[in-house]
Order: sequence, then C-alpha cells, then structure tokens
Amino acid sequence: MRRLAVVTSGGDAPGMNAAVRAITRVGAEADIEVYGVRDGYKGLIEGDMIHLTERGVSGILQLGGTILGTVRSEEFKTAEAQHRAIENLKKNFIDGLVVIGGDGSQKGAFALFKHGFPVVGVASTIDNDLYGSDITIGVDTALNTIVESIDKIRTTAESHERAFLIEVMGRKYGYLALMAGLAGGAELVVTPEFEVDPATVADELLSAYERGKRYAMVVVTDGAKNNAETIAKYFKEHGEKVGYELRVTILGHVQRGGAPSAFDRILASRLGAAAVQLFKDGGSGMLTGWINGKVAYTPLEEVVTNKKALDINLWRLAEILSR
Ligand code: ADP
Ligand code: F6P
Repeated sequence: MRRLAVVTSGGDAPGMNAAVRAITRVGAEADIEVYGVRDGYKGLIEGDMIHLTERGVSGILQLGGTILGTVRSEEFKTAEAQHRAIENLKKNFIDGLVVIGGDGSQKGAFALFKHGFPVVGVASTIDNDLYGSDITIGVDTALNTIVESIDKIRTTAESHERAFLIEVMGRKYGYLALMAGLAGGAELVVTPEFEVDPATVADELLSAYERGKRYAMVVVTDGAKNNAETIAKYFKEHGEKVGYELRVTILGHVQRGGAPSAFDRILASRLGAAAVQLFKDGGSGMLTGWINGKVAYTPLEEVVTNKKALDINLWRLAEILSR
C-alpha cells in the first residue's frame, strides 16, 4: 500500500480542513494511506505525524483553521532541516507529500522536490498571491468576512458623517483590498501595487464629502507602504490642515478565521482530490490550483519563480464606481 503525508503550512486559511478530508478519503478510495503532519514544517522536521482515517476526518469539512496546526518555521529554510524532514518521511515509509499552503510553503515544497522527494502542492492562502491558481483556498471566506465588516462600518460612518480607514490583510499583494473596495463600495483603495500617499488620501476622502457623500472609506493592504499606521500618523500630525478626523479599523486575524464558505469547501475538496490523483498517476513537483474554472497543475518551479499579476483595470473600475 502506498503512503502519503499531508502538511498544512504558513498562514491558516478557511478550507484547509476540507482539503485534508478530501486527501484522506480520496486516498483511501485509491488504497493510499494518509498521514497528517502536525504544526507545519516544524512537525516535518520533528517527524510528528498522525494516521488519518476516513472516520477520523469526520466533522472537519465545516471547520475553519487547520486541525493539523501550522507554524512559520525559519529553520525549515535550511537544507539541513529539509534533509531531516525527508529522513523522517522515509522512516515512516511515506512516498509522497502534499503541501497545503501559500507561496512560502510552496517554496519549501519545491526545495524538498529538488532534494528528490515527490511533493504535490495545494494552493491555499487568503492573500491569493500564489502563481498557478486564479483563486486559492480561503480567499472567498476572508473576502466575505471583510465585506461584512465594511458593511457594518458603513452604517456607523454614515450616521456620524465620518471618514474611515479599513486595513485588510494581503501582505505585498493587494487582491483582498481591491476586491473589498469593489464589493464594499470604498472611495479609495491603497495597495503595494498602487500606493497613494497620505496627503492624497486626505484629499480624496474630502472630495467624497464635496460630492455630497455622508461618509468616506479607504481600504488599505497591511503590507502597503502607506498602511493604516502611516496614514493615521499623517492625519494626527496634520489634523488642522486636513480638517476632519479619520477613524481606523484594522480587521486583523478575524479575516483568517471562521467556517469556510461553500465555495472554499468545494474548491478545497476538488484541489485535495486532484492532488491525490496526480500522486496516484505518478506525478509530482506540481502545484494543484484552479485556472479558468478548472483544476490545473503548474510546475512548482514556475510557481516559485513567477509573480501573479493583479488586473490594473480594476482600480479604474473601483474609482469610477466610487463616484
Ligand atoms: P505562506 O505559505 O502562507 O506564504 P510563509 O511565507 O510564512 O506562509 O511560509 C510558510 C513556511 O514555508 C515558512 O515558515 C518556511 O518554513 C517555509 N518557507 C518559506 N520560504 C521558504 C524558502 N524560500 N525555502 C524553503 N522554505 C520556505
Ligand atoms: O499570509 C497570510 C497573512 O494573513 C497575511 O495576509 C498577513 O499579512 C500575515 O499572514 C499575518 O501573519 P501572522 O498571522 O503571522 O501575523
């Protein structure tokens, strides 16, 4: 019987458990035994694994986070730790590894593959910054959480005629901010790809009032140079010149939490199943992602060397729709 291990790595994402469940059950169907690695790459270095069974993964489809745990492991970036991880996998007679995670995790997956171990990636991160998948596991749930929060902020902003800044996650990729701006009806979006200096933010929000709006909202990415901290500092230091106050909400980790949406459950189930299928067919060194409405495999080498582009036209659309 063949043996597969699965690890969830990097930032957790709603839907990771649905992928673990799919890998376990599709594995069982194909006579492949599945082991779950605890706590990301740290567990791989330490050889911390549990046997996953069809019954054992009952009731996790609808759970957020990851039942396996995840950590960010600096140690795993060293070749020595990677070799130790491979030794642990071999000691447990495991002949393939599925890595569920974002771009950092897939870099780790590619490193193991380059050392000669069969690895298959599954695209999962709320940031949606992974090359090789139009949409990644967790994005839909996170975006819905953000939009729900923006809708709530809007009611108080309107009542008080206030300006609000909402900082969302995404690191160096502005997808969540841009889509939240479109879906939440923000006046302005600031991301690492589209920086707006604080003085211009102040002018843009003021112009919304001048156009007759009772409130104004700007959505910013946490990893932008002009993030909540920078913009709030400017408003504080130039309060008199700006002429109005800015209220700041940093949504933080609430965006990564909660039950996965139906879309994320289905995406995760399909990607998990496709990862097992690839392994069953003797393939490895690929990311399992979603491109043009279908499962698609992209070589990990391509995934880790390419940057995913954001559609620049959507900023223009967001600008027009905010008028
Ligand atoms: P995500 O996968 O969500 O992008 P991180 O960027 O934190 O999250 O990456 C998760 C883990 O992947 C890191 O903690 C580290 O162990 C591993 N990793 C990241 N970059 C590399 C790299 N260049 N080489 C090997 N492993 C890496
Ligand atoms: O990569 C996922 C992510 O949630 C980013 O959007 C965010 O910038 C970062 O992780 C936060 O990291 P941590 O949970 O380690 O504070």
